[in-house]
Amino acid sequence: MGQMAQSISQVDKEELLKILNIAFAEEWLAYYQYWLGARLAVGPMRKAIADEFEEHAGEELEHAEKLAARIIELGGTPVLNPEEWQKTALCKYDAPANPQVIKLLEQNMTAEKCAITRYQKICEMCFGKDFETYRISEDILHDEIEHEEEIAAYQEDIRTVLAHFKED
Ligand SMILES: [Fe+2]
Ligand SMILES: [Fe+2]
Repeated sequence: MGQMAQSISQVDKEELLKILNIAFAEEWLAYYQYWLGARLAVGPMRKAIADEFEEHAGEELEHAEKLAARIIELGGTPVLNPEEWQKTALCKYDAPANPQVIKLLEQNMTAEKCAITRYQKICEMCFGKDFETYRISEDILHDEIEHEEEIAAYQEDIRTVLAHFKED
């Protein structure tokens, strides 16, 4: 265990590990929500949207990996039991019971907005105090902002198509 690596973090360790585990649990749920959505999606542009979901799923999994590594470096333990994911996460899992892309996009948009607030918060906690956790959280924040943007673009495209059909 890296003693120096841990001692240079100037953030309250308990508080930091708590929020990193919240984010870690949320990433697994986000991964699963996208992964399942990619397979269930029906409706306009389903192939393109499913591909986007698949890509996002892979990135959420990478986020979980980065967080697990950081939690361990800080002397903590990543949430051990999948049963705990939903109890630990503050961004709630929204089961894709309705496979229509419009609904799936809405659910994922809510999750991305929540993720953005989570990493913004971690960045604020770590800014100037824990450079390594800050760097990781900033990287993830960047991806989540991109995800929000991509989901928003699909929502906009679908609205355009629907408006067009209404006019005819
Ligand atoms: Fe993520
Ligand atoms: Fe995301």
